[in-house]
Amino acid sequence: MPATTPEGVAKSVGVSNLRRVVFSEENIRRRVGEIGAAISTHYQEGESLLVLGLLKGSFIFMADLVRTLQLPLQVDFLVASSYGSGTVSSGKVKLLYGADTSFEGRNLLLLEDIVDSGTTLEHLVPILNEKRPRSLEICALLHKRRVTMEKEARWVGFDCPDEFVVGYGLDHAEDFRHLPFIGSL
Ligand code: IMP
Ligand code: MG
Repeated sequence: MPATTPEGVAKSVGVSNLRRVVFSEENIRRRVGEIGAAISTHYQEGESLLVLGLLKGSFIFMADLVRTLQLPLQVDFLVASSYGSGTVSSGKVKLLYGADTSFEGRNLLLLEDIVDSGTTLEHLVPILNEKRPRSLEICALLHKRRVTMEKEARWVGFDCPDEFVVGYGLDHAEDFRHLPFIGSL
């Protein structure tokens, strides 16, 4: 299998249990460009952004997206963790790392890899709003559309089918983040 096909790439990085490619590399590149253009026109001339990537899942999306944005910006990262026992989220989220950067009076753009139950964002939004930003918007690469959040993502890359997806930053037990496409297990 040539390494240029999704199946070939998957095989070359040791992924054998991939069910199907859900969003191809080319599909993602095109959509990221569209979102970047929409974000660039949303903000007024002269406004600047602080792009906050939620680690770890958003790291590749962030790297690609910021390169399509045509406005002044800075980047920083946040780590949020749902905690509790076992593998089922307790529904509580804590912010493990708050960026040193001051958020006051700034246009924050929070990047999330995927919105599933929405718990992460529901908890993070009030925490960020306490820091008195000028504005706060959410951009999610994927949205499973299982819930509607009080503060919805203004920009969404793709509605995601109800499958467990990996690649392009998303993991299963920390594996598969480096796949250039998004597949399901
Ligand atoms: P939420 O708080 O339930 O919206 O969960 C969001 C987080 O769960 C995401 O940032 C992902 O880390 C993880 N997650 C949810 N669904 C998936 C999936 O299909 N693949 C990989 N990670 C997922
Ligand atoms: Mg995550």
